[in-house]
Amino acid sequence: MVRALVKALFFIYRLTVMIILAIETSCDETGIALLDATGTATAPRVKVLENLVTTQIPIHREFGGVVPNLAKREHLKNLPLLFARLKAKRPKLKFDLVTVTVGPGLEPALWTGINFAQALAKEHKVPLVGANHLEGHLYSFLLSAPKNAAAIKKLFPAIALIVSGGHTILLKLDSFSKWKRLGETRDDAAGEAFDKVARLLGLSYPGGPEVERLARAGKSDAIAFPRPMLAEKNYDFSFSGLKTSVLYYMRDHTEIAAGKGAISKEDVAASFQAAALDVLVKKTIRAVREYGARSVMLSGGVAANKALRARLQREAKKIGCAFFVPDFKYNLDNGAMIGIAGYMAHLRKKRYKMEARGDMEI
Ligand code: KG4
Ligand code: ZN
Repeated sequence: MVRALVKALFFIYRLTVMIILAIETSCDETGIALLDATGTATAPRVKVLENLVTTQIPIHREFGGVVPNLAKREHLKNLPLLFARLKAKRPKLKFDLVTVTVGPGLEPALWTGINFAQALAKEHKVPLVGANHLEGHLYSFLLSAPKNAAAIKKLFPAIALIVSGGHTILLKLDSFSKWKRLGETRDDAAGEAFDKVARLLGLSYPGGPEVERLARAGKSDAIAFPRPMLAEKNYDFSFSGLKTSVLYYMRDHTEIAAGKGAISKEDVAASFQAAALDVLVKKTIRAVREYGARSVMLSGGVAANKALRARLQREAKKIGCAFFVPDFKYNLDNGAMIGIAGYMAHLRKKRYKMEARGDMEI
């Protein structure tokens, strides 16, 4: 009797489990992932079965940034290769749903993923849902975080900071399905500022990790770079002026590039990073206080920055707020984060049009 009940319950549980195939091609990483997803929109549970990513960074590096048509060409080449790799790893590959990034991102790159996903869904006779790349970043901490639903309920209200190469957004969330944009960058994104400052320091693309590496050996109080919009009573950001300050500083101190003088490139990197992080962390914490948030969620490529992770975690902890950040392997663009975004879109019955939307918002 008990055995039959357990068997029946397990059968019902299996019915709610979905295998999701996710595709990401919005920028310079081609990603295909396979996820096992279950749970509800208030307590989703996912397990990443495969997360295959091919980066195009070496190809774009010589141009100092991502070239859209090159990205498209590479995605077209990489998608079938990655899918073949997935099939080789899982010869009995089966899935219940295909999801693909429809925006925001580079449109020629997005289309490659959409077309591939459409063909795949048709061939395997499964539904296809679009995913928002920014929602992918937002939810990415769930790929490796709280397994128990009770912990998840204590997350809200939450403040989410999404910091990537194209976006800097602060959200207030009441649930995983309901949020309000508190602010965003008015010009450059945080990651873009890191990339541009890296170029000024003669470092290669993408600049974020390079600036962080240099900053570790520098003095963060060597130069008092501005903290744009920190004093303003809103939740918007601006990083273009900070980058320009670094530009002027390097122009007026040519000895730095030559490795001479009292101030080093490491000091410039550390001082710039301190200024950028100061604004990001202080504005996020201000929002936490104002909205009485119970957790802070950090995501996007810049969330890979250890100094930012550590500082935001420390500041959140100080005021009794939980802190969530994805594992390092899920910070940069990948298919798994699109898997969870697609699953949530499916649960929330959110149907994005199957067309590339470069400027899609969250
Ligand atoms: O999320 P992502 O992979 O792509 C976009 O959706 O834009 O973010 C890429 C951005 C790049 O600007 C890169 O320089 C930045 O994230 N980034 C970092 C670090 N690692 C990557 N920025 C600061 N510190 C890092 N460690
Ligand atoms: Zn991204």
